[in-house]
Amino acid sequence: MAAKPVDRRARRLVVLVSGSGTNLQALLDEIAATGVAAYGAEIVAVGADRDGIEGLARAERSGVPTFVRKVKDYGTREEWDAALAEAVAAHEPDLVVSAGFMKIVGKEFLARFGGRFVNTHPALLPSFPGAHGVRDALAYGARVTGCTVHFVDDGVDTGPIIAQGVVEVRDEDYEDEGVALHERIKEVERKLLVDVVGRLARNGYRIEGRKVVIQ
Ligand code: GAR
Repeated sequence: MAAKPVDRRARRLVVLVSGSGTNLQALLDEIAATGVAAYGAEIVAVGADRDGIEGLARAERSGVPTFVRKVKDYGTREEWDAALAEAVAAHEPDLVVSAGFMKIVGKEFLARFGGRFVNTHPALLPSFPGAHGVRDALAYGARVTGCTVHFVDDGVDTGPIIAQGVVEVRDEDYEDEGVALHERIKEVERKLLVDVVGRLARNGYRIEGRKVVIQ
């Protein structure tokens, strides 16, 4: 039997944001510096659940098309989820990256993008899932925390882990409710996300139960 030809096409990425978009910027910068072909992926669109955010401005400055789907503009959460899925699908992504996207997607979105929807979270999962990963790690008194890049499943931050980065908690982190700690986590997180997305795109991957194998 003839060997399957290797698919060297650059992967299409849609990135979802809700805030400052520094993880998105790290991806944009890396792709601009390395080139689409060498990095193995390009950002074809950036989506958000709100307007007026720096994440969308960053996309616009880079000439990347944007779209916004706000929950409040739809009658039900399911309708919003379907509209978000449709807007993402219009850009025919190979991978969808949630980079500070602060909404939980629903059934329709996962039916279309499950297994190719990557999230980055500011804690060492399975500890401290949810919207306040940094604050919750501090409140618990953890001495190390960090970030996790993982595939999204139908739980809250429960999907298969791709990679993690560790950050030490300092005594002074209690003085500013984790602001400086989150900045140190984000420094590690941006590098991790850029590395993981590039490897997924260039090498391909399999998800075997809880284990992610990058080929
Ligand atoms: C990142 O630290 C990301 O892990 C976090 O929001 C930040 C976004 O930063 N996401 C979550 O907390 C999701 N639960 P950015 O907008 O500067 O990329």
